[in-house]
Amino acid sequence: MTDSNPRNVVIFDTTLRDGEQSPGASMNLPEKLEIAQALIELGVDVIEAGFPIVSPGDFESVREVAKIAGHTTVCGLARCREADIDKAWAALRAARRPRIHVFLATSAIHREHKLRMDKAEIVRRAVESVRRAAGYCGDIEFSPEDASRTELDFLCEVTEAAIDAGATTINIPDTVGYATPDDMRRVIGALRQRVGNIDRAVLSVHCHNDLGMAVANSLAAVRAGAGQVECTINGIGERAGNCSLEEVVMSLRTRADYYGAGTRIVTPRLVPTSRLVASVTGIQVQRNKAIVGQNAFAHEAGIHQDGMLKERSTYEIMRPEDVGFAKTDLVLGKHSGRAALADRSTALGYHLAGEQLDNVFAQFKILADKKKEIYDGDLVSLIEQQMLAVAERWTFESYRVTTGTGATPEVELTVSRGGQRMSTKLAGGDGPIDAIFLAIEEITGTAVTCKEFRVHSVTVGKDAQGEVQVEVEHEGRTYRGRGVSTDSVEASARAFLNAINRIAAVANGEKKT
Ligand code: KIV
Ligand code: ZN
Repeated sequence: MTDSNPRNVVIFDTTLRDGEQSPGASMNLPEKLEIAQALIELGVDVIEAGFPIVSPGDFESVREVAKIAGHTTVCGLARCREADIDKAWAALRAARRPRIHVFLATSAIHREHKLRMDKAEIVRRAVESVRRAAGYCGDIEFSPEDASRTELDFLCEVTEAAIDAGATTINIPDTVGYATPDDMRRVIGALRQRVGNIDRAVLSVHCHNDLGMAVANSLAAVRAGAGQVECTINGIGERAGNCSLEEVVMSLRTRADYYGAGTRIVTPRLVPTSRLVASVTGIQVQRNKAIVGQNAFAHEAGIHQDGMLKERSTYEIMRPEDVGFAKTDLVLGKHSGRAALADRSTALGYHLAGEQLDNVFAQFKILADKKKEIYDGDLVSLIEQQMLAVAERWTFESYRVTTGTGATPEVELTVSRGGQRMSTKLAGGDGPIDAIFLAIEEITGTAVTCKEFRVHSVTVGKDAQGEVQVEVEHEGRTYRGRGVSTDSVEASARAFLNAINRIAAVANGEKKT
């Protein structure tokens, strides 16, 4: 299929809703707004910002995203219940382009075991709910949950009824990631052929990745005529995740000859957006991840390098700069000025201005005193720390640890709170980091269980900064923390304190983390 004027596929991003359902990926309001802003700049058509009835935090984030979204459609999820739909509308009403997304399971297994409803009851509920939602706004999406395991005749019947009731998008979820590309092609094809009013709605797909086929299934659906793909940045989401936005977008772009379809995505924003989502959620992207992984464009084999030097297209089907990898890892140093830093940040996809630029520049100068060369990775890390800073109740000041093999560590820790310095001394723990964590628990009066501790180097070289990420549990909830320093023990202390600050923010009635 070749078409010089390919049809547009709507990109519906659900990073803030289905993506947030990834274990440990919950985000607070400033983080969600930061991601929403990045999604707007990326050019997604629809942002599914949350499920407003689920919690006050979800309600607020949908409402706040609705206020900043401008021409980007903002969507809120609702079950086929009056209270859900009313709540979704209350959260969305400030949006210039609101969409209510109602869903109800249709497969036999869900009808019998989860809903205990017969087919007639399902159709009645779906119709009533779509009508109620359509009374609020003109853009209504209906999802027959577990559609890929629903009897085709019944799926056609529900779809036709939902469109008659006012649905403008019909989304076909492969809720449990069970479908094959052939299944998706068959379902989309059947709906297009057999549903009399299908031309009044956009057909969409929403594929989960349990068998690793979410992207392939979504692309097969597009090839069969689907006009919208639901996806998430880095493919995060419930269980094994959702269809990855960057993979589906770059497949459509690179193989436009085959799919005859394109998107409005500003592809050089893919890598910065991916980094932001990884940093906010703590879910790192594997090095060999297609499109945005660190190795996605690295050619190691000599024969490949030789081919690349002679002619890039021998081994390269996309250019790194097309997806937002900077051309060079430019080095900055302590004599680099504000303008050079701002320029480099822009090249990396961040727009720093005013106070944010001042703060990053101040941190940059401190780092440049410790470290001769500042690489892109260092800069990204400084910028993200600045953009995602949580209100600090406790601020790290200094530490001293004495320890050795077989010895009990002794730690002296100083933090400040509201400008006042406080110190503690203790002996204990299994090593210097454990001892510092104990001291932080003691001084802040907050007991936690450390579930994850990860450390990695932000750039190369002996003086590289270490980034530490921790995940701690407190009163049944998980909180993340992140700290960066050229000293990895200090980075650990900062990460742990960052998690404690998030706990304090929640205890103070601020948003969930
Ligand atoms: O996976 C699913 O079925 C969903 C629906 C709510 C669309 O996320
Ligand atoms: Zn889903």
